[in-house]
Amino acid sequence: MPAPHIPVLCDSVVTALAIQPNDRVLDGTLGFGGHAQAILNHLSDDGRYIGLDQDPAAISYCQSVFQLDSRVSIHQCNFRDIHRVLDASVPVNKVLIDLGVSSYQLDHETRGFSFQHADAPLDMRMDPTHAQSAASLLNTAVEHELATIFNQNADLDAPKLVQNIVSFRANRAFESTNDLLSVIKQSFYFRNSRRNYIAMVQRVFQAIRMAVNDELVALQTFVQTIPNYMPSGSRLAVICFHSGESKRLKRILPASLTPVQKKVIKPTYAERKKNSRAACAQLRIYEKL
Ligand SMILES: C[S@@+](CC[C@H](N)C(=O)[O-])C[C@H]1O[C@@H](n2cnc3c(N)ncnc32)[C@H](O)[C@@H]1O
Repeated sequence: MPAPHIPVLCDSVVTALAIQPNDRVLDGTLGFGGHAQAILNHLSDDGRYIGLDQDPAAISYCQSVFQLDSRVSIHQCNFRDIHRVLDASVPVNKVLIDLGVSSYQLDHETRGFSFQHADAPLDMRMDPTHAQSAASLLNTAVEHELATIFNQNADLDAPKLVQNIVSFRANRAFESTNDLLSVIKQSFYFRNSRRNYIAMVQRVFQAIRMAVNDELVALQTFVQTIPNYMPSGSRLAVICFHSGESKRLKRILPASLTPVQKKVIKPTYAERKKNSRAACAQLRIYEKL
């Protein structure tokens, strides 16, 4: 079966991390193993690859793909809980996190991540055991919490959307992606442009997904903890997809991680043409002092 996710900036990740045959690599967002495979191609038998993901679907896919590769160990774990997997006495010298969702999660009709499955349950949890789904968040968050979610996660000042969410749930609970779409339609003026409509729907869905999965807090915890497991001279690669992630990353970066280069690495035109989901990807590389 072809992998249900195309990895972005794959060659750039391998080059920027300067992967060496004996590296001990931590991948905090294993997904469907695209970056894993590209990096493993450069590791010798003495190299090690530790892959984490919080989504059990990604874990079971990668367990079957890499089951015969003794260099690989796979853990279902949120990268904010890295202490559960790593031991500071056995450090990792190359680290990758590729933020956001996989194409599998977006395309899966029952996960509720995408507006394209209009009657899907409004779920959006990457870890299905997590307590709060998107529906439960929309049904319970107070107005100022909703306003902060849209503002912080999608740069969106949306008082009318917040008001319409509150009016909707006064009549009946949010259940499906359709419920959210109907509220978005009432809340903005799209100038008869489907492109404007889709752009707004994506921003609102992204903001809610980030809140459901507590993504910025996970990123902050990880970036502040991971240097404890990295020796001096080791490297961290972070792939972001929007300004909410990039801004937070810049704000929380500990002094022990220094950018290897000022310019962010972006996909080439050819990569963007082949994979439209790569369009917004930005790769940043840091070195541990
Ligand atoms: C963009 S995909 C990664 C794709 C992967 N690099 C590949 O080549 O297939 C992001 C993945 O990270 C996972 N993820 C996002 N936040 C996470 C977190 N805090 N802890 C663990 N996994 C996370 C998602 O479940 C998803 O599978």
